[in-house]
Amino acid sequence: MTVCVIGGAGYIGSITVERLLEHGRRVIVYDNLSRGHRAAVPDHVPFIQGDHGNRALLEQTLKRYDCRSVMHFSALSLVGESVRNPLAYYDNNLTKGVSLLQSAISSGAQNFIFSSTAAVYGQPIHSPITEDDPTIPTNPYGNTKLAFERLLWDVSQNYNLRCVALRYFNAAGASEKYGEDHDPETHLIPLVLRFASGDSGSIQVFGNQYPTRDGTCIRDYIHVLDLAEAHILALEYLEKGGANEVFNLGNGTGFSVLEVIETAHKITRKSLPFEIREPRPGDPAELVASSEKIKRILGWNPRYPALESIIESAWKWHLNHPKGYLS
Ligand SMILES: NC(=O)c1ccc[n+]([C@@H]2O[C@H](COP(=O)([O-])OP(=O)(O)OC[C@H]3O[C@@H](n4cnc5c(N)ncnc54)[C@H](O)[C@@H]3O)[C@@H](O)[C@H]2O)c1
Repeated sequence: MTVCVIGGAGYIGSITVERLLEHGRRVIVYDNLSRGHRAAVPDHVPFIQGDHGNRALLEQTLKRYDCRSVMHFSALSLVGESVRNPLAYYDNNLTKGVSLLQSAISSGAQNFIFSSTAAVYGQPIHSPITEDDPTIPTNPYGNTKLAFERLLWDVSQNYNLRCVALRYFNAAGASEKYGEDHDPETHLIPLVLRFASGDSGSIQVFGNQYPTRDGTCIRDYIHVLDLAEAHILALEYLEKGGANEVFNLGNGTGFSVLEVIETAHKITRKSLPFEIREPRPGDPAELVASSEKIKRILGWNPRYPALESIIESAWKWHLNHPKGYLS
């Protein structure tokens, strides 16, 4: 039985493929390469370049490789871009997502793992955030992810498809071989590391008057290897007949923007100038996950919770790939 990793040429998908292979799984990658990298997929892994909205190609691929399990990482995932171009987000993440689900069902797939996001919660009502908290997204990206989750639950009532949605907080870090190479890059840790390796200008810190320990926003960073491991556990859970579930995935500990910059400075030993900018509208002061549910039900436990190990792994990858997958 093969696992089809849709979006497996992207950041989190490629590292999950690596972990699946280490666990002895047969894997194929399906990706349209709109945001991913061919070099992020090992040569020996079957790679199909296709859009997840291409119903015929995806269905044929799933049948050809006898894929009983699908991991769905493929999405557009930039909050700002989603505000500027909501139709592209609804089209890719939802409309084409319906087609993706149709392909999965008609090919006979049974297990489905979806990359959801902390953005489904919007402004948190308390910290840490639990899965039962209200889901009121504040941008089109979060809306499309929440809508796809609901679609999944509705569809799985009528078909033989069991599903897990993993709501990631901030993925960060790298494995030895694969890392984060987005264009444009909007995530704090890779941006800070670009400055450490010589990008001109200074890091922009949006707001320093939040009700947090140093006034800057607090976010929950989870090592991408711990995220990948959670996918293996979710797959095993579904294969054993586990019921549909939604799980948060975070460290349970938040780090402020200034703490990230300070830790990156210690690791890289580079000066990291920053300037304080106006806070961004709608940016919550603190977004920290409770991951108690996934620990309790799947036995997941982060192996790399320290911010140092997350940044160290990202820095090592960055030094080996100064131009990302082009180097
Ligand atoms: N990176 C994070 O911190 C984070 C946090 C929360 C949720 N997520 C979610 O996790 C998933 C993976 O994130 P990532 O950072 O690895 O993103 P990424 O952009 O690196 O990877 C996404 C991959 O999907 C592919 N793709 C996009 N649309 C496609 C389509 N229509 N057909 C086929 N392939 C398509 C892209 O080419 C890319 O390779 C996304 O769904 C994202 O919303 C990421």
